[in-house]
Amino acid sequence: MTTVRNMADLRSDFPALSGTMRGRDLVYFDNGATSLKPQPVIDALNDYYSRYSANIHRGVYEMSELATAAYDRARESIYRFLSVDTETGEVIFTRGTTESVNLVATSWAREQLGPGDEIVLTAMEHHSNIVPWQQVARRTGAVIRYIPLTPEGFLTDEGITQTIGDKTRLVAVTGMSNVTGYMPPLERIIEVAHRHGALVLVDGAQLASHRPVDVGALDCDFLVFSGHKMCGPTGIGVLYAKKNLLESMEPFLFGGDMIREVTLEHSTWARVPEKFEAGTPNIAGAIGLGAAADYLMDIGMERIAEHEHRLTEYMTTVMHRFPFIRNYGDQSPDRRGGIFSFTIDGVHPHDVGSLLDQQGIAVRTGFHCAQPLMTHFGITGTIRASFFLYNTEEEIDQFARAVERLYEILS
Ligand code: ALA
Repeated sequence: MTTVRNMADLRSDFPALSGTMRGRDLVYFDNGATSLKPQPVIDALNDYYSRYSANIHRGVYEMSELATAAYDRARESIYRFLSVDTETGEVIFTRGTTESVNLVATSWAREQLGPGDEIVLTAMEHHSNIVPWQQVARRTGAVIRYIPLTPEGFLTDEGITQTIGDKTRLVAVTGMSNVTGYMPPLERIIEVAHRHGALVLVDGAQLASHRPVDVGALDCDFLVFSGHKMCGPTGIGVLYAKKNLLESMEPFLFGGDMIREVTLEHSTWARVPEKFEAGTPNIAGAIGLGAAADYLMDIGMERIAEHEHRLTEYMTTVMHRFPFIRNYGDQSPDRRGGIFSFTIDGVHPHDVGSLLDQQGIAVRTGFHCAQPLMTHFGITGTIRASFFLYNTEEEIDQFARAVERLYEILS
């Protein structure tokens, strides 16, 4: 049953929020890196480890059946979370976004691409959505092209239509920049790519935890994301893909549980999704991720997106009062997630991060695994505050006061 809960009451679900950092009440603004975990997720992990921590798909005894059923239910939660039509789409559990991208790069791109084929990316991608494609290009002779960015770090329709063409075989693009929060026009990119017969991989590492995602409506071919940024445990993530693609792809890892039959000479593969889940999977992680998806769906992804939108608007208003900050990615609200990245004139981002830490405020500073975007902006790093459902306007006021004070000290 879905219960409509007051957003302010949700804070008590997250034990870490009642803790301190450097002796101060914690203000956690590093949700782009990872989210805090609510009690139902912690309970789900605890329950598995304390009550039924058997292996799955192997035992004929009750404990193993319980574990298998919980693992299968977790996948069903992800189906609901992404509105997957299981006739046409499937969810693979991986270690996270990075592994999911590598799976597609290895099992699809390295098998399918050849000299002259083009992979289209953007310079705002996280390294995990650049480096694997560079390896594919190096081994296959495929060429990487980048949709140009405006000086502010946005895409234009002209840039999209002029970069994606008949040689494009794959477009791999973020759903939300982990640096600026900018959300590229995915529907348009997918429409243009499909018109040219290219597939589209959406890096949903930031998107999936903060906005509702309907993979059927979006019509992406692959969507990848991590559990730990959406209230789930670390070490578990998702590859969603259209089923026909997964069926035609080679396995990524080889071993137990992914086979149909093994002889001394050769082996055949299990059906999707088992074909891509070799070895004992991260059972607890999947169960925890399923609990996280249930938790977020219970609150409602639309409500979470609205809450973060309000926080980002408020942060922008408050922070733009300071003439000494430069904000990256300021954009209309429907194209901007809950991320506020900025620099302070004449001050190194790490110094800002360290002084905020002394005030109990957690942010990420540096290049955020996105060096090409930093090069585009002509900087070496930013200070990034990134929000989630439990953040408040009071925390933003506290943050702004801390930034003002530290500017007086450092400038
Ligand atoms: N990709 C994560 C971030 O942006 C770690 O912080």
